[in-house]
Amino acid sequence: MCGIFAYQGKRTDVANLILTGLKSLEYRGYDSWGILIKKEDKSFFLKRQVGKIKDKKLPPIIAKEGFGHTRWATHGGVLEKNTHPHFDSQKKIFAVHNGIIENFNELRQELTKKGHIFNSETDTEVLPHLAEELSKKTNNRLKIIKEIIKKIKGLNAIILYFLNESEFYAFKNSSPIVLGKNNDGVFLASDASALASYTNKVYFLNDEEIIMIKEKNIYLFDKYGKPKKINFINLNYKVEDTLLGQHKHFMIKEINEQPKIISTILETQQQNIKKATKLIRNSYGSYLIGCGSAYYACLVGTYFFSKIAKRHINAAVASEFSYLVDFLKETSLVIPLSQSGETIDVISSVKKAKEKKAKVLALTNVLGSTLYRMSDEKLLLLAGPEKCVLATKSFTAKLTFLYLLAHILNGTFNKGKKNLKKAVKEVEKIINERKKIKKLASFLKEKKHIFILGRGVSYPVALESTLKIKESSYIHAEGFPAGELKHGVIALIEKETPVIVYNPQDETYEDTLSSAYEVSARGAYVIGISSKNSPVYNQFFQIENCSDATTIPNVVFAQLLGYYLTLARGFDPDKPRNLAKSVTVK
Ligand code: F6R
Repeated sequence: MCGIFAYQGKRTDVANLILTGLKSLEYRGYDSWGILIKKEDKSFFLKRQVGKIKDKKLPPIIAKEGFGHTRWATHGGVLEKNTHPHFDSQKKIFAVHNGIIENFNELRQELTKKGHIFNSETDTEVLPHLAEELSKKTNNRLKIIKEIIKKIKGLNAIILYFLNESEFYAFKNSSPIVLGKNNDGVFLASDASALASYTNKVYFLNDEEIIMIKEKNIYLFDKYGKPKKINFINLNYKVEDTLLGQHKHFMIKEINEQPKIISTILETQQQNIKKATKLIRNSYGSYLIGCGSAYYACLVGTYFFSKIAKRHINAAVASEFSYLVDFLKETSLVIPLSQSGETIDVISSVKKAKEKKAKVLALTNVLGSTLYRMSDEKLLLLAGPEKCVLATKSFTAKLTFLYLLAHILNGTFNKGKKNLKKAVKEVEKIINERKKIKKLASFLKEKKHIFILGRGVSYPVALESTLKIKESSYIHAEGFPAGELKHGVIALIEKETPVIVYNPQDETYEDTLSSAYEVSARGAYVIGISSKNSPVYNQFFQIENCSDATTIPNVVFAQLLGYYLTLARGFDPDKPRNLAKSVTVK
């Protein structure tokens, strides 16, 4: 949450360079944005503005260094005064920050007593003031940073900039900061994909480390201030993966990428998955954890493991898992699922699991992410940068890995592969049928509620489908196990209430069909998703059976419906209100 981007180097078009960097980080928050540039004459240019960056261009200022921030508001309303960068009394020290300073009230009171005047309601503003206060006693800025690290509580990624000295200091606790470098200069960003246009050579900062950048030179220190060697790694991000190309939105671009991603996983990951299954085999008690869509993928996983591999693997929402860790032992295995690898609730749970000495097998999309670095084994989702706030391709990549894990555990990789290949064809087919889904969206766009039913493995698919509808079209959607209807939910069905029914021809088919009849009898408008049509459906979308891999094309149907509902209602599918892609605050 919140995006940070900094540059120091030879380039002189720094204002627009930073703005472009921030734009690519806007998926982390787009309440407001701000930028600070040091000009050639040593004065500065500060711009802070509420709203998205859109096509904003800044005046051509000749400058070689600066930084910026795109905000997802936590402390203080969405106002210009609360927008970063924040500054000290003299406007000599500036700060951008991602996270929460839990003890900011205390610090603010202490500083106020010492005469500091605050201009914002944010927690961040204590940082430059604290640095200003500390610099009254010493001009050793590394010492000042070490002192700030000691004083602040919470999970953060911070950059402090000392204007007169032209020095950047970056440090973090849990939230990400990536350092990048090329022949032109040095970059800091919240996410490596923001650096893809400039460099693949990156270093993921660790907690308690401090980076200092001065005159394009980079210095790394441990928490005691002892210099450390920086071991850069090369990422294989392609610039075009991070751009819209011919597409109108990242959401549709990413939906369309799914057949290729699933096929790549199928063709390249057998050995990696096989290695990972060893951890599952050797564990006594395994727990899939994740948030939002990732949690729904965990739920799908529990069905895959039970049905295919005959293994009981639990699933828990990561924000609740921290309260369940008491039963973890050395023999337990935690399997966190996280596209970003930075979701704070996942990271906190994994930290607790590690304290209990449990093993960790992560499924994440981001090489070098916090989760990636803290796990014993990892499977990279290979979905490429996911820029749309809504998870689409990362969700189906997670399902693909879970499905193959279950099949490899069961010794039936080829069978799993065959079903997934069929699923890829069905995904392609449903994408080609998008006009029909668009029409359905325009029919449903004024509805207040949409219900989605499924049984067995289709139940978590129904849950994920509702999220795809709710998040950016803002229509209320709820998913239910089809068998639960009669226990209360059916009271919500009125004439013309839209009910989507996932009904693959598996062991759930007949019972789910009965539920479709039950809601139809009460006037519901039933949309059937199945390999077999039935007179009960008012509309029918055919998806052929691919065994449990049918979950994948089924969810793609909902992704497309969510996309077209959002457009039909005039909203932006890539940047839904109140949401940020990577939830790095509690
Ligand atoms: C839904 C969505 C979120 C994320 C959740 C976890 O469309 O994007 O629910 O799935 O915030 O994010 P990661 O996978 O990065 O941990």
